[in-house]
Amino acid sequence: MQNEHRATARNTRRTFLQSTGAMAAGLCLAKTANAADAPLAVKGGAKAVTVSHDDATTWPRYGTEEEQAVLELVRRPDYGPIEAFEKEWKEQFKVPYCKAHYNGTSAITAMFFALNLPPGSEIMVPCSTFWATIMPMRFFGLVPVFVDVHPRTMNFDVEDAKRRLTKNTKAVFPVHYLGLPADMDHISDFARQKGLIVLEDACHAHGASLHGKPMGTWGRMACFSFQASKPLPAIEGGMGNYQNREDYERAATLGHYECPPKFAAGSEYAKYHGTGLGMKLRMHPMAAALARCQLKKLTSQNGAGIAQTRRLNDRLIRLPGLYEQQNRPDVERVFYNQNRFLFNESEAGMSRETCIKALRAEGVSVGAAGPQFQCDHPAYHEPQWWHHPPVIADHYAGAEELTRRGISLPYFTKDVPELIDQYIVAFEKVWARRKELANS
Ligand SMILES: Cc1ncc(COP(=O)(O)O)c(C=O)c1O
Repeated sequence: MQNEHRATARNTRRTFLQSTGAMAAGLCLAKTANAADAPLAVKGGAKAVTVSHDDATTWPRYGTEEEQAVLELVRRPDYGPIEAFEKEWKEQFKVPYCKAHYNGTSAITAMFFALNLPPGSEIMVPCSTFWATIMPMRFFGLVPVFVDVHPRTMNFDVEDAKRRLTKNTKAVFPVHYLGLPADMDHISDFARQKGLIVLEDACHAHGASLHGKPMGTWGRMACFSFQASKPLPAIEGGMGNYQNREDYERAATLGHYECPPKFAAGSEYAKYHGTGLGMKLRMHPMAAALARCQLKKLTSQNGAGIAQTRRLNDRLIRLPGLYEQQNRPDVERVFYNQNRFLFNESEAGMSRETCIKALRAEGVSVGAAGPQFQCDHPAYHEPQWWHHPPVIADHYAGAEELTRRGISLPYFTKDVPELIDQYIVAFEKVWARRKELANS
């Protein structure tokens, strides 16, 4: 996904200045009441946001540890980091089997291969996601069935999935979009009742959990991306989690010619040693070296980002008509790429366009943002690419609502307490004058 907010500036390590941040916040917020009374920037007043955004959203943030790990490989080329990373990943996520892949897309491709389903089998996917959740199905004769996304979470809507069930439905493949866990408890109940396989696209959600159970461990198989923008960035890379040996061995046979000798005795896939069945999807060892460093920091990096985003969002959601991409308290989400909100025009008393214009004038980096809607893409409509055509409905009410309501703010990956406080001032200033804005 393109990141409209991310700066290209060089990395610095994230240093969250807890105490100085709090002091700055106190001083800044003391000025809030006056600032909210100041004339709107869109009407010629002074901007609320004066602190630079430079480097506030830089990602990844690599340091000397990552530099040394890569340098070591340059000096002594070796594949060792891949196996070391898989071992550490398995321990951290407590999954019985995992396989590092070239990227998230290849992890998904191998997962579809591992399903070993007959052509024509339907897999339910959210209508809003990155293409890689869906496109590799075509290699195996699988049929994507596009399910609506919930207008409050942007995630797979299990109630809509119930309406789209057919005798050919074999699996559900939700995405934890922008780091917010999908309703895996309800989805798993539905799948159990209907005898469906549960899969997970956890490419945005490294370290997120629902009821304390990590995303990527709910499904029979799950995949992760380590592409540069992701919560665990290795510039490029992917991982598959597998709950059973058969899936792991089949997934690791496609694209990993070196793997079959490591399979359990008697594996039916052992004989494919030295073929990769025509593909080579091995993770680059430099990516594995970077991923090992980032895995150690995953919890702290996620935690710092969550803390700072909460400081902003906890104030913004008090404003009428402004909602987070969230609807239940029992998820531990992570943030990835951007900080998405939903805007209700009638409750806010102004149009989204007017609001964005006023916020931008105040110096806020904000834009209208819809779902990553897949169904209109020609590649899903041309029969030449598919054994069986994708199942696409005429309307997706949830996705349409998200198109009308979404607004996107930056996800700040550096400690920027003054910038956060200026954002709060800008929003409160615009909301204080929303009647005036709506009438102008
Ligand atoms: C939801 C989702 N699934 C899968 C992928 C594919 O991951 P990769 O880019 O590592 O191939 C992405 C990448 O952005 C993604 O956003």
